[in-house]
Amino acid sequence: MVKLSARALALSLCLGLAFFAGQPPVAAHGHRGPGLGKKDKKDKSGGKQEDPRDTVKRIVTEAIGGDKGVGAALIRLVFHDCWVNGCDGSVLVDTKPYGGGKTEKLAENNIGLAGFDVIDKIKSQLDSPEKQLSCADIVVLAAREATYNLSRGNIDYPVNTGRTDGVVSSASAADAVLPPSTFDFEQLKANFAAKGFDTKELVALSGAHVVGVARESSFADRLNDTTATPISPDYKDALAEDVKKHPIQPNNIRDKDETFRDKAGYVVETGVDTSDGAKGVMDNTYYHANLQNRVLFRSDWELRNDMSGQAGNAMETFKRDAREWYTEFGKAMAKLSQLKAQGPRFENRTDCKVINTNNKY
Ligand code: HEM
Ligand SMILES: *[C@@H]1O[C@H](CO)[C@@H](O)[C@H](O)[C@H]1NC(C)=O
Ligand SMILES: *[C@@H]1O[C@H](CO)[C@@H](O)[C@H](O)[C@H]1NC(C)=O
Ligand SMILES: *[C@@H]1O[C@H](CO)[C@@H](O)[C@H](O)[C@H]1NC(C)=O
Repeated sequence: MVKLSARALALSLCLGLAFFAGQPPVAAHGHRGPGLGKKDKKDKSGGKQEDPRDTVKRIVTEAIGGDKGVGAALIRLVFHDCWVNGCDGSVLVDTKPYGGGKTEKLAENNIGLAGFDVIDKIKSQLDSPEKQLSCADIVVLAAREATYNLSRGNIDYPVNTGRTDGVVSSASAADAVLPPSTFDFEQLKANFAAKGFDTKELVALSGAHVVGVARESSFADRLNDTTATPISPDYKDALAEDVKKHPIQPNNIRDKDETFRDKAGYVVETGVDTSDGAKGVMDNTYYHANLQNRVLFRSDWELRNDMSGQAGNAMETFKRDAREWYTEFGKAMAKLSQLKAQGPRFENRTDCKVINTNNKY
């Protein structure tokens, strides 16, 4: 009996939302009209309309509370959106892309991409129509909030809004511009230079691999004697064994347990916090791990091919001075978030997963 009425309530709520989603925007004071959907939003923001940036912050913070991994996913998402034809929400699309075909999500270099449900949740909880954010803006703001949260407030960079959503989303276009983990240093440098990012920015942004996870296929080349780039032998052995049980590994060896770290010969250097509370925190420990040659991806290791140049210099600086990394990472993320969208047409997408209409091209 209780179950039934709860279900009935949920059903009427769904119908209410579906009804209002189909209504044209009403400008006056941002009210879309009465109804359950609106009331629901009011309740969560304490009885008054919520600034859209606060909505993003609230939902991202909640999501991270449930699973820290979501924060890492959102940070990767902005890179993978903005790198491909600029920040246009193209990475979110499931259906109706301009020109048809497979969308970016199906690109090989987008393996493991996540956080889409958080983006959808934000879009569905934004208040009045004139305060709507584009899907592209949501991706940018969500990454900002995730970075702020995972860095414990240490990385706090400004981002604007006003982006519009693109209509193109192509898997092959994404694979053509997103760097695979097997790139060498020259390829990484060229890839970043093509977007206007220098070596120091490449090194700063690679520090995002301080958090999050990777599938075995993303680092299998490092464990295979035919293809391996130099890797600490004790780390390689520990990883090769552990991956049999855990095919998804944290990017940062800091986040492994002590038994693994010891087996892998990881040295807990001054400034590195390996306590449970510090797991998944964005700090400069990526550089400690990389300079100990204990990182997952070839692309991370490759930065060591420039030890006497800009990359090595930046890694040493960021390892020595966490503040310096916070600043440079924030600056590079702000710049990434400004990559200008390019495409045949732009719209404010209603559902971040679906291009609004297919018949306007
Ligand atoms: C420099 C070139 C880069 C390469 C080759 C690269 C490659 C990869 C690969 C292969 C994964 C693992 C995917 C998987 O197996 O699930 C990954 C994860 C990740 N990357 Fe990168 N990446 C690069 C730069 C960046 C940048 C610039 C950012 C953000 C600023 C970033 C943020 C992340 C994050 C946060 C994860 C973990 C995602 C999660 O746990 O859901 N990466 N990257
Ligand atoms: C990050 O999110 C967690 C979980 O929701 C929350 O407890 C914490 O206060 C947040 N930290 C910052 C700096 O916003
Ligand atoms: C190692 O890499 C080589 C060359 O790509 C490949 O032919 C071989 O199958 C790989 N070995 C394993 C065990 O995956
Ligand atoms: C998207 O919405 C914004 C804000 O309401 C508006 O200024 C802009 O013209 C819209 N863009 C398109 C392409 O519809």
